[in-house]
Amino acid sequence: MDLYEYQAKELFAKHGVAVVPGKVCFTPEEAQAVASDIGTTVVVKAQVKTGGRGKAGGVKLADNASDAKDRAQDILGLDIKGHIVHKVLVAEAADIAEEYYVSFLLDRTNRTFLAMASVEGGVEIEEVAVNNPDALAMIRVDALEGCTLEKATEIADAAKFPAEVREQVIEMLQSLWKVLVEEDATLVEVNPLAKITDGRVLALDGKVSLDDNAQYRHESHLALIDNAQTDPIELRAKEFDLNYVKLQGEVGIIGNGAGLVMSTLDVVAYAGEEFGGVKPANFLDIGGGASAQVMANGLDIVLGDPEVKAVFVNVFGGITACDAVANGIVQAVGMLAERGEPITKPIVCRIDGNNAVEGRRILDESGIALIERVETMDDAARRVAQLAAGK
Ligand SMILES: Nc1ncnc2c1ncn2[C@@H]1O[C@H](COP(=O)(O)OP(=O)(O)OP(=O)(O)O)[C@@H](O)[C@H]1O
Ligand SMILES: [Mg+2]
Repeated sequence: MDLYEYQAKELFAKHGVAVVPGKVCFTPEEAQAVASDIGTTVVVKAQVKTGGRGKAGGVKLADNASDAKDRAQDILGLDIKGHIVHKVLVAEAADIAEEYYVSFLLDRTNRTFLAMASVEGGVEIEEVAVNNPDALAMIRVDALEGCTLEKATEIADAAKFPAEVREQVIEMLQSLWKVLVEEDATLVEVNPLAKITDGRVLALDGKVSLDDNAQYRHESHLALIDNAQTDPIELRAKEFDLNYVKLQGEVGIIGNGAGLVMSTLDVVAYAGEEFGGVKPANFLDIGGGASAQVMANGLDIVLGDPEVKAVFVNVFGGITACDAVANGIVQAVGMLAERGEPITKPIVCRIDGNNAVEGRRILDESGIALIERVETMDDAARRVAQLAAGK
């Protein structure tokens, strides 16, 4: 999970990384009140999970509270690379003398952590890496040793931080490493890390990506999830503990096994071309040993998507044999009917693998008119695309 800048800075502050005071605001009036509390020149910054906010007009200085209100008014609602701004950070403006860059990240290719640092910050670091690679120090950090005082010193010196900020940068690097380790992050980045005219070094921007697989040991991270930005169907699927991703299409997809579901998306998209560009509406993997209840939950989620016109259930029986899956589908349709939500959209089923003959018999004899059974995956994809296109 990527965090917003204001959330990243809350984690920074918790671990002793120096930041400027500020607060997230949802309305121009709030921005005015926060600016008035801060009492100095402030910066109003769009909070969106994408880069290049400054260039897009999402970062503006404001001299006083009423100015801050106007700037917030300008920025709220902006579309920055497809992200609509719903909140702004109002923070004390720093009098910047120099802008630097520092980050720690998980370097999967080299199976290590990597520190990157440069005295040429503020700009996009990718540009520095291409145009002036010598200005970007890259130092491996051993996961078990961590960013010790020696390591932090090595990083600061490799990047040639000037003597007057060296000590502060070394301390900052160690605190940022603590954020990475203690919060289970895979990326911690500060751009710009600024030297301000009074000599202090502060994190003026922050980017943190948390490792979702470690969420179970961070109760407090649950509060960082922005439900307003999550698709409502994905939220419900999460409650059911389903592996669901919403896509922009008309064919609901249910399969068992991530590989099978991925290839189902491909064949449906391919078959859909013939019917005016019909596409898969979602990814849903109900997993190997899926019960009737899980199938019912899956159907419930997929059928509940108003975009879905037809559903493709593509199952390869393995540990859970096809007869169990077929019974699951039939029971699931029954459960939905009992709940007062009888199915109204066609469901194309292709089942193969362990005990397929019995599974197919169960579906064929179920008497559910909206279930259509097709022998092969390709034919089923073509049929469901046709149904979704209303042809
Ligand atoms: N608190 C602040 N005081 C003064 N200037 C600031 C402050 N925060 C940011 N700035 C200025 O605005 C520039 C852009 O800010 P920031 O790095 O946060 O956004 P960005 O780089 O445009 O967005 P992103 O990091 O998403 O690409 C900074 O390089 C800095 O010059
Ligand atoms: Mg930045």
